[in-house]
Amino acid sequence: MSAIQHHAETFNPNALNMVQLATYDRLILAPLVRVWENVLDWEHLPYLHDTSFNYVELDTGGQWGWRTWSNADHTGHVELAVASADSYVARSYQAGHQVSEIWTTLTGAGDSTQVQVRFFMPDIAENKIEKLGQVMTNLYTQLWDEDEAMMQQRQKRLHEHRDNRRERNLGKEANIRSKLACGDAVTFQVKRREYQIAEIEGRLVAIPTICPHLMGPLLAVDTHAGVVRCPWHGYQFDIKSGECIFPEHADCKLPAAPELILGNGNIIARMS
Ligand code: FES
Ligand SMILES: [Fe+2]
Repeated sequence: MSAIQHHAETFNPNALNMVQLATYDRLILAPLVRVWENVLDWEHLPYLHDTSFNYVELDTGGQWGWRTWSNADHTGHVELAVASADSYVARSYQAGHQVSEIWTTLTGAGDSTQVQVRFFMPDIAENKIEKLGQVMTNLYTQLWDEDEAMMQQRQKRLHEHRDNRRERNLGKEANIRSKLACGDAVTFQVKRREYQIAEIEGRLVAIPTICPHLMGPLLAVDTHAGVVRCPWHGYQFDIKSGECIFPEHADCKLPAAPELILGNGNIIARMS
């Protein structure tokens, strides 16, 4: 599969009366490899950018880009196509008509990436250009803010050194319980994985903090439902079994957690 848009990698392939609204330049403090990963990742749109996207359903995708439906009745869609080694284009369509065309150029510079976004829409009156350009610039500032935070955290997780000990003394049980009661996270590392402590039905248990999908933060523990959620792509995991219970197509699972053992009033985390 590839883009449905004929000549997707060229400018204005439908020969519309295209108007440039604005240009947005931004230095992203994450390397180019993280940015391309993010561009091709349609799945984060309704979760990481939950205030900007109401409905996202995959139609098809691949190394060429992706196409998603923008509403449940499939009358609108967005198609993103890689146009060259350093650029991609996103177009939105409504009832078969192209509504926008947004070109992005990426220039890698070590640990950062220079991004330039150009916004186009067809048939925009002269007196609407500035306002629409501002709306698009504001929207993209927010999207890139959210993306940059995700990319930086993923980059840090990919390269950080984590404690390889098999067993850790986590300190006094009473201290840990009072921290949890205040809503503070209690985290620790064993065997190069990171865990947090949660209290479930009175028992202290260890739950991974790093999502097995793409290393997102698993800090939203719902102890009543017995699930932990990741804010990046919305995956949900059953705390007891470790199975991914949402979405259906996911094929990852929480890693095994250490046992938490009480000894002399202290909590010991031990990996079997
Ligand atoms: S990193 Fe994708 S759902 Fe957690
Ligand atoms: Fe994004």
